[in-house]
Amino acid sequence: MSENKRPESLKRITTPELARAFIDEQIGELKARIGDKKVLLALSGGVDSSVVAALLIKAIGKNLVCVHVNHGLLRKGEPEQVIKVFRDELGATLVYVDAADRFLDKLAGVSDPETKRKIIGKEFIDVFAEEAKKLEGIEFLAQGTIYPDILESDGVKAHHNVGGLPAELNFELVEPVKFLYKDEVRVVGKELGLPDNMVYRQPFPGPGLGVRCVGAITRDRLEALREADAILREEFAVAGLEGKVWQYFTVIPDFKSTGIKDGKRTFEWPVILRAVNSVDATAATIEEIPYELLYKIRDRILSEVKGVNRVLYDISPKPVATIEYE
Ligand code: XMP
Repeated sequence: MSENKRPESLKRITTPELARAFIDEQIGELKARIGDKKVLLALSGGVDSSVVAALLIKAIGKNLVCVHVNHGLLRKGEPEQVIKVFRDELGATLVYVDAADRFLDKLAGVSDPETKRKIIGKEFIDVFAEEAKKLEGIEFLAQGTIYPDILESDGVKAHHNVGGLPAELNFELVEPVKFLYKDEVRVVGKELGLPDNMVYRQPFPGPGLGVRCVGAITRDRLEALREADAILREEFAVAGLEGKVWQYFTVIPDFKSTGIKDGKRTFEWPVILRAVNSVDATAATIEEIPYELLYKIRDRILSEVKGVNRVLYDISPKPVATIEYE
């Protein structure tokens, strides 16, 4: 498939100057191809879809319609940041869909990991397709496909949420970064003026916190997980580790243990801390978090997060463990 082979003329984008040249060329091509027609994009807030959005906003402005689906499994502050950056600062046409209840209702009582993933994936496509049908005159669908997606699969973001849309939507695909590697997408994103915490964001799975709220997801456990994750990320940022550690997050398993709070016995969840380094996620080593930082995170989680009485630190490499818990 020659149209899926990186052109030899495309130099590795390693500098702001090379990124600028790529951006200018893409804007020209996108304008010529799309004209005054409309393009739809599922904007997750991840680096790939964000860079595609920023490029298309420069090329076609309001004719790009971004749809941000909040499936209720996003991290604390994520939907707010997407709205702030794209709607408020870049002036994008952004449809924000708060579908949290819908997803969590479908997931209630489901504990099998692959069934959870399937429900999240299917529901995402349904919500997105429903929004697409409400919009008039859309002819193109933009996607943040990058070169490794093409090399590893059949050219779509196979393990991401947008696996495939119903055929009746029948859009032509626009994939402006499909020949770029991740590091090049980041250089382009930086040059487009996207914030650092978006450009250098750690990988975040499509099913989001859903695979870290082990077993059947409940709203109270999910909320505790979201708060604990926010504390871990905040403290990593303060310690200067943001962007330096491949992935760091919290997990809440599906069991409780005893504890003691204000002289009374408790029966609450543990929070597991996970921080790993990797090159391509096929293998990972653990980040050696200094004890001082571990204690700070522990103290904050134990005092600020409701329903938690224990903090554990996972020291398992991949293999034998995987990075995620499900
Ligand atoms: P594991 O847990 O298999 O994860 O060591 C390897 C990498 O893949 C990410 N991951 C996912 N990404 N949808 C995604 O988009 C998923 O269902 C999914 N599961 C795992 C994980 O965060 C890690 O970077």
